[in-house]
Parts: sequence; C-alpha cells; structure tokens
Amino acid sequence: MTQRLTIRRPDDWHLHLRDGLMLAGVLPETARHFARAIIMPNLVPPVVTGAAAAAYRDRILAALPEGMEFRPLMTLYLTEETDPDDVAAAHQSGLVTAVKLYPAGATTNSASGVTDFDKVRPVLERMAEIGLPLCIHGEVTMPEVDIFDREKVFIETVLDPLRQRTPGLKVTLEHVTTADGIDYVAGEAGDIAGTITAHHLMIDRNHILVGGIKPHYYCLPVAKRRRHRDALRRAAISGNPRFFLGTDSAPHSDEAKESACGCAGCFTATNTMACLAHVFEEEGALDRLEGFASLHGPARYGLPPNAGTITLVKEDAPVPYPDKIATGAGPVTVFDPGHPLYWRVA
Ligand code: NCD
Ligand code: ZN
Repeated sequence: MTQRLTIRRPDDWHLHLRDGLMLAGVLPETARHFARAIIMPNLVPPVVTGAAAAAYRDRILAALPEGMEFRPLMTLYLTEETDPDDVAAAHQSGLVTAVKLYPAGATTNSASGVTDFDKVRPVLERMAEIGLPLCIHGEVTMPEVDIFDREKVFIETVLDPLRQRTPGLKVTLEHVTTADGIDYVAGEAGDIAGTITAHHLMIDRNHILVGGIKPHYYCLPVAKRRRHRDALRRAAISGNPRFFLGTDSAPHSDEAKESACGCAGCFTATNTMACLAHVFEEEGALDRLEGFASLHGPARYGLPPNAGTITLVKEDAPVPYPDKIATGAGPVTVFDPGHPLYWRVA
C-alpha cells in the first residue's frame, strides 16, 4: 500500500552550497525539493560585506539549472570588523535575511569568526533595532571544554549573556544537538528559535565511532548521546513553531572527508525529505512534518509559506538513493541513515 502526503513546498533554513564546481554540483540536489534556503557565508574568504553577498547570490542563480526555481536567502559572516552601516544597508535593500555568527575556530572555515564579543556589540545592537536575525553556531572553542559539552557551555557562557545584553535581538540557535539547547530555546522568553538537521534526528555518537570510525557521520556540532537525539525528535514533532528545519547539508569531497583529518559536514540535500518522513512516521507525527519543514521557518522570518506543494510517497520496497553525487570538485557521499528509506518525493 503506497501512502501519500502532500505538504507545502519546504525551505531549508541552514544550507552550505560552497562555490564554483561544488556549487554547480550540489545546488540541484537542494533546488529539486526546496524553494528557498538560508545560504551559509563560510566561503574562503567568507562573505563579509553586502557587495560580496550580492556577488555570491548572482553566482548561485547563475549555477541554477534551466527550469529550476530556487531563492537563495543570503547571510553575512559576522567578523570583528563588520560595519553596522553595511549590514543595515544590505538588510534594507532586501539582500540579506540574516547575519551568521561563528565563534572563531568553531568549525569549517570559521577562522574569521568572533573571539571578542564586545567588538561586535555595535552590529548586534543595530540588528536588534532593525529586526535582522542573528544565526548562531552555538559552540565554544576553548581547548579545555570537551567537544560533547561545547553547545551546553556556549549557551550558558556566551548565548545567554549576549541575549541579556542585547534585548530585542532575534536569535536562531542553529543545528541544536542537545537536550540543553532544546530546553533553552523552548523555555526562554524573548525572540529565539532553533533549527534542527535531519541527520541529528537520526544518528547519535555511536554511529560515528562504533565498529570503525565513520567520517561521513562526522559533523559539527558533533552528534551526541541517544538521549539528546531523542530530545531533538520530541522538539521537531512537538508543533512548537520555535523549531524548524535547517539541514546544515555541508558538502565536502570524499577525499576531504576520508582522511586522517577529515572535514566536518554531512551531505543530506539529496534525501532530507525522505529522512524526515521516516522519522516523523516513526514518531507517529506525519501530520507535524509540514509545520517543521514548511511553515514555522517562514513564519519566523516574516515570509509567506511557499505557494507550491510537494508530495511524499511511501513505497512498499526501499527507495534507492545514490551513494554519492558526482561534482566537478569530486564525489560527495550522500548521508546514509544506516537503514532503508521507503519515502521519496514524487
Ligand atoms: C559546516 C561546513 O562544512 O561548512 N560543517 C558542519 O559540520 N556542519 C560548517 C558548520 O555549519 O559547522
Ligand atoms: Zn552549517
């Protein structure tokens, strides 16, 4: 018995598209299902100014295959030198949807991120004034803090003080991976939301480390214990509009992943919707999938939901997904949840 579920076309509120040959290779994987995505600015060099964001947007649109429709929602990479006036102008013109905060050194291409949060205070204050959201990679980077604790410590020592000092700042805590992050977003007063990836709803840290090291499950923030994964699932299916999808699909070539020092990032663009349908069905919450993938995000960002729809079909037999997609920058391994998927987008 095939089962069908039609929902508004989804959006991705956290996506890495890279540039050049990699961009050309991965963009169709997202544009096939998603109407819009918040585009991460962690290129080398990062997208710091409005002018750079406009040029990057144009390269994305130029890479979009004929006949595909997709709207990139651009972000600026916050540095200690970011000019509040440039940010305000980029917002005013409709070019940028958010500013991205990477603590310096937290993840891939984050060397230009923030070390001294006082230095970015004028930008944050201006953003609060004009209603421009701040998307945050929520991990501290001090070597003495265990990598599995970095999100929790960030919330306590950086995020909460920053929000107290900047009332009115709209914050998205991105790719939440802990019960602590979920509790913070759900329990706080004020303007905060949290994105959750498809892969963090499926894997825990055992997937990375048991039975041999699995580099394609390594991403940042790193997957935590099973109880944290379960807290993410409860939040995703809760119907709470503060939680919505940000895939953090982060392509790296196999050569870069399968290395003695492999890059962080899971590439999920190809099968995100199948993974989500699988999880929401397992949780008996298919009726909440549309809110999570297609409604809460636009409401948060003050945009209308997409006019179009997609239909998810559940087959009797497993749906084959490619192991890899070929790009001009090398093969990129597609996220494998470790069990068959029966859902596909019609
Ligand atoms: C991202 C990347 O590769 O750019 N990697 C990841 O593991 N998620 C960076 C990021 O979002 O942390
Ligand atoms: Zn990311």
